[in-house]
Amino acid sequence: MQNVVILGSTGSIGENTLDVIARHPDRYRVLALTCHRNTELLLRQVRAFSPRYVVVTDAAAAAGARRKLLALSPGIEVLEGLPGLCEVAAHPDADAVMAAIVGAAGLEPTLAAVVAGKRVLLANKESLVMSGPLFMRAVRDHGATLLPIDSEHNAIFQCMPPGYRGGLDGHGVARILLTASGGPFRLHSRAELELVTPAQAVAHPNWSMGQKISVDSATLMNKGLELIEACYLFDTTADRVEVVVHPQSIIHSMVEYIDGSVLAQLGNPDMRTPIAYGLAWPARIAAGVPSLDIIAAARLDFAAPDVERFPCLRLARTACEAGGTASAVLNAANEVAVEAFLAGRIGFLAIAELIERVMLRCESFEPVDIAAVKAADAEARAEARQLLQAVSA
Ligand SMILES: NC(=O)c1ccc[n+]([C@@H]2O[C@H](COP(=O)([O-])OP(=O)(O)OC[C@H]3O[C@@H](n4cnc5c(N)ncnc54)[C@H](OP(=O)(O)O)[C@@H]3O)[C@@H](O)[C@H]2O)c1
Repeated sequence: MQNVVILGSTGSIGENTLDVIARHPDRYRVLALTCHRNTELLLRQVRAFSPRYVVVTDAAAAAGARRKLLALSPGIEVLEGLPGLCEVAAHPDADAVMAAIVGAAGLEPTLAAVVAGKRVLLANKESLVMSGPLFMRAVRDHGATLLPIDSEHNAIFQCMPPGYRGGLDGHGVARILLTASGGPFRLHSRAELELVTPAQAVAHPNWSMGQKISVDSATLMNKGLELIEACYLFDTTADRVEVVVHPQSIIHSMVEYIDGSVLAQLGNPDMRTPIAYGLAWPARIAAGVPSLDIIAAARLDFAAPDVERFPCLRLARTACEAGGTASAVLNAANEVAVEAFLAGRIGFLAIAELIERVMLRCESFEPVDIAAVKAADAEARAEARQLLQAVSA
């Protein structure tokens, strides 16, 4: 029986994780659930899974929900804020931690789980993008087990040889082919992209996801963040990772070996597959995912991405090659820009423009610790907000 902590249980990944766990009550018990503000859903999850701990990070939401949570589950401990997240992430009774908070807010709790040497199921790509070398060093130093949950990285991991220990050359791997659906606007002209609304951007054709990652998928920033994530996870450089647009999202990524073999992982686009893989690895468990009807799928298309229409991918590659804090700056500027787009303050094309301007203003440096990463993140957010103010003035 494994005790599981779900950071961000009220999100899309959190809900999918609970769906898989509910299918295996003999293998998994929920130790802790966390949300930011959505305490209504948290209450429903508490009723269904009876965790020992819950964390609500927003202070007002925590104050509003405490009484209801205690009435529902008298023995439950209700924790608050970042300290509460770090406490459950590093809890001595936790066997596995699903890191599914969205954005930079996930950095410290995910690292707390890593430093406590947990089995960490990494969905929160932003934490790795921000602090790559420091994060991966902490994984090694503290003996944590890091399992990628992003479907692409999970697919790459599955295509690596048995006993995979990191890197490409030692395993005969030539390169990684990172697939991308291309998002809902794959065929839009620049003029059409100019008119894209937030409601259109959050409606992904193949995947049902949270708002932020849906916008990232539409701009191809998600693929850019994943390119950086792949470089850190598989200890390689951006020139060994090729992004391939594959609109059907049936192949979730590929690994090419030096003998010319290309291994791919296929499946229906359903996050329960990588989540189940992360929970049970190296075993396999049922995930509730329908069998892939390859005959109905009929064809698999591939194309090169267009970085002229989708410059976020180019910006991410530039940040990845620059190293240091460049990726943290890219990530922070993107979070501010996506928030502004969702609030109707800027247009779709202005997302990349804002990020590029912030990257030009913030000089990259080699961060010595997480405090330095957070400082770079804060500087980039401040620059982005200043530029936004100038736009609205
Ligand atoms: N969704 C996918 O299919 C998918 C696939 C691959 C990777 N990922 C990655 O997984 C992560 C989660 O994505 P998602 O789509 O599940 O996001 P989501 O649906 O927006 O859920 C985000 C979760 O984080 C919580 N949260 C938000 N802001 C927070 C804060 N400041 N402090 C603490 N918790 C906070 C939310 O709580 P409330 O509900 O209370 O706001 C919610 O539980 C992202 O990093 C994403 O890139 C997602």
